[in-house]
Amino acid sequence: MFITVEKLRKSYQAGKSKTEVLKGISLTLAKGQTGVILGPSGSGKSTLMNIIGGVDRADSGSIHVDGLEITSLGDDGLTDYRRDSVGFIFQFYNLVPNLTVSENIEVVSNISKAPLDMETVLNAVGLETKKKSFPRELSGGEQQRVAIARAIVKNPKLLLCDEPTGALDYETSHGVLSLLQKVNRDFGTTILMITHNTAIGDMANLVYKLRGGEIVETIRHDETAAAERIEW
Ligand SMILES: Nc1ncnc2c1ncn2[C@@H]1O[C@H](COP(=O)(O)OP(=O)(O)OP(=O)(O)O)[C@@H](O)[C@H]1O
Ligand SMILES: [Mg+2]
Repeated sequence: MFITVEKLRKSYQAGKSKTEVLKGISLTLAKGQTGVILGPSGSGKSTLMNIIGGVDRADSGSIHVDGLEITSLGDDGLTDYRRDSVGFIFQFYNLVPNLTVSENIEVVSNISKAPLDMETVLNAVGLETKKKSFPRELSGGEQQRVAIARAIVKNPKLLLCDEPTGALDYETSHGVLSLLQKVNRDFGTTILMITHNTAIGDMANLVYKLRGGEIVETIRHDETAAAERIEW
């Protein structure tokens, strides 16, 4: 398995009260597959993804990604893991406003071991003509495509997407989802995506439904739907 999460637990202390956000999560995802984590607001989706991405730590349990046990890494090890193996796409694009499209992508490629070249990436996301634009000059869908470009330029093994279409309209969402499918196909990138849109689950090999910090259902798809054909 490419990702193996076992009995993952996480709580947050708020004042005197302790909230258990992840209550023993176990899941797997094979290399090159697409997984979707589906669940209502507050169910622990971002918490889970942040721990898998090495930006937060679990209280107990283990995570292996491509043979590496990330739950036993120290801070330096986690930094290397994030830099070398993980691409992150957020709901709100997190672009640097005073850098152009190319420069936003270069911020990541400059620190990557074996980055893809800029033209390949701009082509992949269809932004060849916008490389000198600033984020404020782009539509929401275009900004999200820059965020995708920035995440894939380091050619990560794992692409984590937290509500990648959360801020986008129907049409633009389909464009972004198609692009993620293309990245998965062309670069063999394993994708784990968070959504609360049930329909998006149809494009995944595996759907994990999260409720109150627990996986309540796992759905396997032998055949996945093309993003363009998904309706909601
Ligand atoms: N740093 C934190 N400190 C305290 N509580 C937190 C912290 N981060 C998250 N939580 C709590 O953990 C729970 C799960 O949060 P999480 O962000 O993982 O939910 P989510 O499923 O991603 O929700 P959404 O769909 O709204 O993004 C929430 O109740 C939230 O308030
Ligand atoms: Mg969230």
